[in-house]
Amino acid sequence: MHQPAHLTCPLCRAALVPVEKSYRCAQGHAFDVAKEGYLSLLHGRQKGEGRGDSKAMILARDRVHHAEVFEPLVKTLATLPFETKPRSVLELGCGEGFFLSHMIRAHGIAASYGLDLSVDAVKLAAKTLKQSLILRADLLNPLPFADGSLDLVQSIFAPRPLAEIKRVLRPGGYALFVYPEADHWAELRAFLPLAKIGDEKLPAELTGFTAVASSHVTGKLDLSRDVLSDLVEMSPSIHRLTREGTAWRDRLPASLVATLSVRATLFRKR
Ligand SMILES: C[S@@+](CC[C@H](N)C(=O)[O-])C[C@H]1O[C@@H](n2cnc3c(N)ncnc32)[C@H](O)[C@@H]1O
Repeated sequence: MHQPAHLTCPLCRAALVPVEKSYRCAQGHAFDVAKEGYLSLLHGRQKGEGRGDSKAMILARDRVHHAEVFEPLVKTLATLPFETKPRSVLELGCGEGFFLSHMIRAHGIAASYGLDLSVDAVKLAAKTLKQSLILRADLLNPLPFADGSLDLVQSIFAPRPLAEIKRVLRPGGYALFVYPEADHWAELRAFLPLAKIGDEKLPAELTGFTAVASSHVTGKLDLSRDVLSDLVEMSPSIHRLTREGTAWRDRLPASLVATLSVRATLFRKR
């Protein structure tokens, strides 16, 4: 059982500690570890199965990661210039845990936490990341961690609750954000009306943080129709394409050279 020294109860903010197959706080609130190994911190009406990314989206992303499409990003993340090595990491919207697993290995991080709302994401993440504590929780709520208790919080293509990230980071801790640039998969957009990338950018300066590094990760990749199909399936645009009944698979070419264009930005809390 993990020793989540910094985990807090989502109902009363008291420390949460492992007791048999659940986590409990001194106020008597209890949260069960699911048989798949993740800890659900959802409570009351929050407990719906169909929230966060769907199973089809999670499986499509898993195939894309296995096809090593994001290898240039993996390499960039492995060489991030940490002045002080992080000993703990929390990934927000960790999906099936692909990038979390790489960060743990590349930087030798001892304590790791992945958080996602999707039940299918946390099931897969808990299966692959045995050394991490995987949490099912909603990023619209306060993060279930004590103030100043984490060395690194990362959000990779996921929501960024900045005030909460700042609260749970210790002074000198790092925030890592990865998000798409405007020309990300531009060639694929010529075939399909995918959502425009626009509001993703972070400001160059964040109050209370010092910018440490910002890398534009880019490359031209030769992608098969299967990979292109998975890139569409894992994107938020899939909801609209499905709702509108677009026969989007029929529009995909047999293969396509497409531009990967994402930015990885590292900040340090002052
Ligand atoms: C684009 S995926 C990125 C997954 C992973 N970081 C990766 O890059 O492989 C975004 C993830 O954020 C999760 N997510 C979206 N809204 C969320 C929320 N309100 N609370 C927790 N997770 C959320 C989704 O379920 C999904 O797994």
